[in-house]
Amino acid sequence: MDISRKRETYGITNINSTNAGDGTSNQVTTLRRTTSYVDDQDYIFVGLQDVVQKLLAQLLKAEPRRSVLSIHGMGGLGKTTLARKLYTSPDILNSFHTRAWICVSQEYNTMDLLRNIIKSVQGCTKETLDLFERMTEGDLEIYLRDLLKERKYLMVVDDVWQREAWESLKRAFPDGKNGSRVIITTRKEDVTERADDIGFVHKLRFLSQEESWDLFCRKLLNVRSMVPEMESLAKDMVEKCRGLPLAIVVLSRLLSHKKGLNEWQKLQKLMLGGKIEKLPDLFPNSITMMVLRESVLKEDPMPILGMLPNLRNLYLVAAYGGEEIMCSDNNFSQLEFLILGDLEKLETWHLGTSAMPLIKGLGIYDCPNLKEIPERMKDVELLKRNYNKW
Ligand SMILES: Nc1ncnc2c1ncn2[C@@H]1O[C@H](COP(=O)(O)OP(=O)(O)O)[C@@H](O)[C@H]1O
Ligand SMILES: [Mg+2]
Repeated sequence: MDISRKRETYGITNINSTNAGDGTSNQVTTLRRTTSYVDDQDYIFVGLQDVVQKLLAQLLKAEPRRSVLSIHGMGGLGKTTLARKLYTSPDILNSFHTRAWICVSQEYNTMDLLRNIIKSVQGCTKETLDLFERMTEGDLEIYLRDLLKERKYLMVVDDVWQREAWESLKRAFPDGKNGSRVIITTRKEDVTERADDIGFVHKLRFLSQEESWDLFCRKLLNVRSMVPEMESLAKDMVEKCRGLPLAIVVLSRLLSHKKGLNEWQKLQKLMLGGKIEKLPDLFPNSITMMVLRESVLKEDPMPILGMLPNLRNLYLVAAYGGEEIMCSDNNFSQLEFLILGDLEKLETWHLGTSAMPLIKGLGIYDCPNLKEIPERMKDVELLKRNYNKW
């Protein structure tokens, strides 16, 4: 069935009046902003020049078959940032006129993903939106396949967690033997294994020490006020990040708000607001109070926080999107006050018998799915809901 027939079938009459053919529309940008963890405002790209050159060559090589480039590595390693660097590079813009970026993540809905790609490739009107709502997954797949068939396209499918997510999207990406490419990023090695028979798999490396330092300094707000003692302290800390960009960025943000060597040395109260996917495991032991707000962490933060030997106050507010937290034996040895707020998905709280031996106050708010408070916590004094001031 050709695409004009299909349009009739779906009742689309005004498709040509949208910006079909202009895959670089604003919608691509909007979509990208809302779905990926890339902060457009302070976008910088550090290091990895060898990697960028190698991957650009893969994308641009004269292989007519549609092929998939998979980038894999742990959370925070810079997969999204690298994909974005490729996606926006001038050679790519010249070579691929149809481009779209979608972010899959852990909870995804294939129909929404398909709709989003279609929208960003051809733009949309209210009528097409209504139409998409009525289509089945199979319809959307066929529609997208037809839409892309004649085009040389580049798709980025960011943050694929399961093979199945990719399998269902893959069917909608046709091979028009015109050099089209798909980039997928994933933390899971098994996603890359069968991504594509002729594909190219790149295991992302950690940053070198020089690259790490460069990233740290470029993210630091007031690099000039770093006296030599501060520099050597910071170098130690950056080294501990072991080349993981997310850890370096968090550290840099954190130290940006501390003035002078003294404050850098005895970082005690730490408040992190805003999205961070994964906690770095390098927090200084001096921390006594920690506030995590709206971080939308994907991994249980308790194992890392539980190791802080001096932590006395912990506030987790809208900080974690998982169903379980685990506070193991001997963890949180000094914790006195704990607030769990706005943890919508939280269902189970595992508490080791010797965890939190000194706990004095507990506040639990807006955790609608938490089934039970651990037995030992039932005697702890309940704290008032005053965390909003943080
Ligand atoms: N090469 C890089 N240059 C500059 N910043 C980077 C680089 N790689 C990662 N970052 C920063 O590190 C953080 C995590 O990167 P991200 O691409 O989101 O990781 P991933 O997608 O692997 O989880 C982001 O804040 C990003 O800006
Ligand atoms: Mg990512």
